[in-house]
Amino acid sequence: MDRNLSRRHILRLTAAGTGVIALGGLRIRGVYAAPPPLEKKDTYKVGFSQVEMNNPWRIAQTESMQAEAERLGYEMVYTDAAGDEAKQIQDVNDMISQQVDLIFLAPRSEKPLAQAVLDAKAAGIPVILLDRNVDNEIAKPGEDFVTFIGSDFIQEGARAAEWLARTMGGEATIIELEGTTGSSPAMDRQKGFRDYLAGTFTGHPSGTPVAAPTAGFPGMTVVASQTGDFARDEGRKVFETLYQANPEATAVYAHNDEMAIGAILALEAQGKVPGTDVIIVSIDGSKDALQAIIDGKLGATVECNPRFGPKAFETLAAYANGDDIPEKIINPDKFFDSSNAEAEVGNAY
Ligand code: AHR
Repeated sequence: MDRNLSRRHILRLTAAGTGVIALGGLRIRGVYAAPPPLEKKDTYKVGFSQVEMNNPWRIAQTESMQAEAERLGYEMVYTDAAGDEAKQIQDVNDMISQQVDLIFLAPRSEKPLAQAVLDAKAAGIPVILLDRNVDNEIAKPGEDFVTFIGSDFIQEGARAAEWLARTMGGEATIIELEGTTGSSPAMDRQKGFRDYLAGTFTGHPSGTPVAAPTAGFPGMTVVASQTGDFARDEGRKVFETLYQANPEATAVYAHNDEMAIGAILALEAQGKVPGTDVIIVSIDGSKDALQAIIDGKLGATVECNPRFGPKAFETLAAYANGDDIPEKIINPDKFFDSSNAEAEVGNAY
């Protein structure tokens, strides 16, 4: 279909305020909406709003975005919100003022950053979400933003639970270190893990874990759960406190590798042997985590791939071309444990 006549473009007209559009005698009300269109050009000025740069995952993601922008010869306006939601909303609005063609947004948390998506839409700038989602009740994919590119966080949590239940023989007292409060990975990684242990995980398309017994694993109990904000030192401090209150804990589920390493440091500081006294599972697949697996301190980590550059810019081109873009583009993720950490550590970030 000619791009000028594509459904998305027609819907965009309604979203732009015409309210009602006539199509061959058929009147369509402005109940439809679509993200602002993107002109097909040789080069683009894009924005990339990063959440924070305090861990290897974020550094790898930024480097991947910068490398791909450079390879394509595109200009990229880059901002680091330093873990501050108000600053990230401002960063997006600054990009709007600079009239970028499209904004790649890695939102810190679901609700506050949904407003920034709507601000960009109102200014006629399409947004592609990278690695974290916004609240889809407030801002919808295919309507308010183009798409979400990232991992299936529910599945990541379920895969971590499957490994832990198998390794612990269905018996464990677990401390959970949660990611940033209100962020999609923290909410979904908790849900996937808990649903799997409860036997209610319904399964997701790729790499679905082996089904749990319908009765779940009654011997696997989460005794304490608190946010460590996806950060190593915060994870270390929070684990210290939770472990002091629950010295009977035999396992840790950390929503990312940085907090798992924080827990390892806290255990070692108390003369405990991580990997023996307490079994740890986490998510990401960083170089430090794979080294910790090789050293026997970390049991396993579910990959959450941070190298978004090629997929992000490929999606931009497809959108400019008028292709239909799915509401979610899910990255395939690997799984690392003692069987492959040695072979994979060289590719890690
Ligand atoms: O949104 C993805 C998560 O954010 C990664 O697991 C974490 O390490 C990062 O900060």
